[in-house]
Amino acid sequence: MSEFQYQNGELHAEAVALSAIAEQYGTPCYVYSRRAIEQAFLAWDSALAGQPHLVCFAVKANSNLAVLNVLARLGAGFDIVSGGELERVLAAGGDPARVVFSGLGKTEDEMRRALQVGIKCFNVESTAELERLQKVAAELGVQAPVSLRVNPDVDAMTHPYISTGLKENKFGIDIASALAVYRRAAALPNLDVQGADCHIGSQLTDDTPLIDALDRMLLLVDQLAAEGIQVHHLDLGGGLGVTYDDETPPTPGEYLAKVREKVAGRDLTLLFEPGRSIVANAGLLLTQVNLLKPTEHKNFAIIDAAMNDLIRPALYSAWMGIDAVRPRTDVAAKPWDLVGPVCETGDFLGKDRELALAEGDLLAVRSAGAYGFVMSSNYNTRPRAAEVMVDGAATHLIRRRETVSELFAGESLLPEA
Ligand code: LLP
Repeated sequence: MSEFQYQNGELHAEAVALSAIAEQYGTPCYVYSRRAIEQAFLAWDSALAGQPHLVCFAVKANSNLAVLNVLARLGAGFDIVSGGELERVLAAGGDPARVVFSGLGKTEDEMRRALQVGIKCFNVESTAELERLQKVAAELGVQAPVSLRVNPDVDAMTHPYISTGLKENKFGIDIASALAVYRRAAALPNLDVQGADCHIGSQLTDDTPLIDALDRMLLLVDQLAAEGIQVHHLDLGGGLGVTYDDETPPTPGEYLAKVREKVAGRDLTLLFEPGRSIVANAGLLLTQVNLLKPTEHKNFAIIDAAMNDLIRPALYSAWMGIDAVRPRTDVAAKPWDLVGPVCETGDFLGKDRELALAEGDLLAVRSAGAYGFVMSSNYNTRPRAAEVMVDGAATHLIRRRETVSELFAGESLLPEA
């Protein structure tokens, strides 16, 4: 059940009316439900009960410290892709021993820091990265735990910008060369081969490609074992889709039951890196109608959230649900394009949405908990939105709205002539 429901004609986050949040914190504002985050994480974790596993939340999907902390308290691991994300996990009380480090451009500094704090594993994406990690680990006199991110060459059947598992994509090590690269990894003295991993794409609404990738990975694990290279864990990445509109992705439980069947009887710890499926539907973007501009061709509702706050519609033509916080019956519903004030034609959050609107109305852009705030920018010198977490009847400001002066605080003028 969604934690965002109508009560007495008004959309609430758990027990809190969204209008109260708008009044207290202003708009645009991201609103998250603690309970929804916890339930989504536990759906993964409990479906893996009895099987050695670690669910590593993909920090890139939502890196607010409070969100990470809620997950850390449940014993979550974390999948990071930068030194910055590592610092966030540590600041949020995450356990470094439960961190996997993905990403194809790790720097020596990032590797050093991750080795010093003792992360669980580096997901290595190229031979060059392997050699670099060997060098950094040798300098520190430690063994670096590694897994190779293998590109299994399966089509995730999702948007091309978020599809990553085809051989023409920049990610991972081609499965055909994986054996040779593993041999090299096993021969390097400061590397400790721990696992194998893959991640084929995001927002998958059918798990067939994920299971195909798993089959290919298990074949590889067997080939490695035949050569005396024993991997202890298999990391299947993230990618499970969510419902934005009428998609019907498998639940984590359904997907994981299939995975468990395939790995039954093997001595393998399973790792996953879900991002979207944990936080997307645990958040929304609260925005207010600023001006109405009906024209002969189109009705535009100019709202106070824009592409800089939520770029998914502009970048991927993503469809996000948009609902009135207090649906009104005193004006007729008609199709509106919900557009921001940014000077770009791509600045819209939804098009042709049948809504009854008046100036000042509050709208909720649904499913915005993943890849929402984290992808926001200051384009047009717009301060980034506030973030609020609802917990039962309580609201907590977990990131205050930026001020304009903060936006140029790091800039300076040239010296006087
Ligand atoms: N692991 C790796 C190595 C990844 O690259 C990603 C996402 C994940 C895990 C988490 O995937 P998820 O479970 O969230 O699908 N900005 C795009 C999505 C980009 C996903 C990038 N990688 C969007 O808004 O749709």
